[in-house]
Amino acid sequence: MAGAIKIAVLRERATGESRVSASPETVKKFIALGATVAVESGAGITASISDDDYRAAGAEVADNAVQGADIVLGVQGPEPEQLAGAKPGAWIVAGLDPFGKRARVDAYAAAGYEALAMEFMPRITRAQSMDILSSQSNLAGYKAVLVAANLYGRAFPMMMTAAGTVSAAKCFVMGVGVAGLQAIATARRLGAQVSATDVRSATKEQIQSLGAKPIFVESVAGIEGEGAGGYATEMSEEYQKAQAELVSAHIAKQDIVITTALIPGRAAPRLISDAQIATMKPGSVIFDLAVAQGGNVEGSVPDQVVEKHGVKIVGYSNTPAHLPADASALFARNLYNFLSAFWDKEQGKPVLDEEIGNAIRLTQGGKVVNERLLG
Ligand code: NAI
Repeated sequence: MAGAIKIAVLRERATGESRVSASPETVKKFIALGATVAVESGAGITASISDDDYRAAGAEVADNAVQGADIVLGVQGPEPEQLAGAKPGAWIVAGLDPFGKRARVDAYAAAGYEALAMEFMPRITRAQSMDILSSQSNLAGYKAVLVAANLYGRAFPMMMTAAGTVSAAKCFVMGVGVAGLQAIATARRLGAQVSATDVRSATKEQIQSLGAKPIFVESVAGIEGEGAGGYATEMSEEYQKAQAELVSAHIAKQDIVITTALIPGRAAPRLISDAQIATMKPGSVIFDLAVAQGGNVEGSVPDQVVEKHGVKIVGYSNTPAHLPADASALFARNLYNFLSAFWDKEQGKPVLDEEIGNAIRLTQGGKVVNERLLG
């Protein structure tokens, strides 16, 4: 076996990014596989992990951790300058935002790096434990409900008190993927009356099993089953019109609305118009979890709470970063589960197979190679 391979862990540079891509737990596990790990100084501070915690796990902590690295781990994609000193052909393993940061992908190719976009992980059973979208969406769905509850000037549960009864909040979840399911469960736990909608008919049963009421367009066919790879596609004009009518009737009665609808590689679908917001009761709260992808809600602004017609509209551009310790722990495990699943003991490094390799590899041999970017 050649010398141990070196894994570098970046300190995130993006504004508002408080997560880190390795935890003391995953550092230990990488070392147990035979790698060495170097962490950039201060990388874990915002996620409540100190440099000493990383040292205690066996990592070297240094400002030039990337020097000589074979694999560089990040939460978000690093700027190419941050990679100076990494080995030629080094792997960049992170959420690389391949469509949004296309020029940066080209720069990785030009520099000869092999960029692996973790958000392109296929939705197959064996890759579930490697799926950063799931682990982070789950926490985002939870946090969105808590933030909305906090901004709402009333209580969520029904309360019968000596001074009179407080009625339960009505909460509507739009988009029932991973984030939406967790939002439903969280709002239910807080005591709200919850309803939810999606374009995929398979979610109807999931909504019911969480004790919420499904609100579905019945007149026009939605997506039967799970859709391609479990994802939604853009819906027909006819469907969108029927959905808008349905939502208009329902939304006027809601106190809290959480929107999570996404379509991979495209702008988020617009689900709520300003005119619909105007029909809601003053004091209601909308949390737009899709704000960074263009927003499901007209007028939502990344990282701001705006008030329209007496309704607060919240959008965090990076909701998982508001739970940095748990989000980092899960993200770090996703990366470890991925690299360790492909670890070749003889070569002392990971070797990808075709199914997952071709899905997530953006650049190789100086070129952009991913078909989703070439198409
Ligand atoms: P997502 O984040 O891409 O979208 C969120 C939700 O919005 C989806 O449920 C989608 O159908 C819905 N949506 C899109 N357009 C809409 C519209 N116009 N109106 C209403 N809703 C709309 O989806 P996410 O959370 O990534 O999950 C998608 C599916 O993938 C789920 O079925 C999930 O269970 C499955 N999945 C499978 C995994 C695996 O097997 N490895 C891992 C994670 C998720």
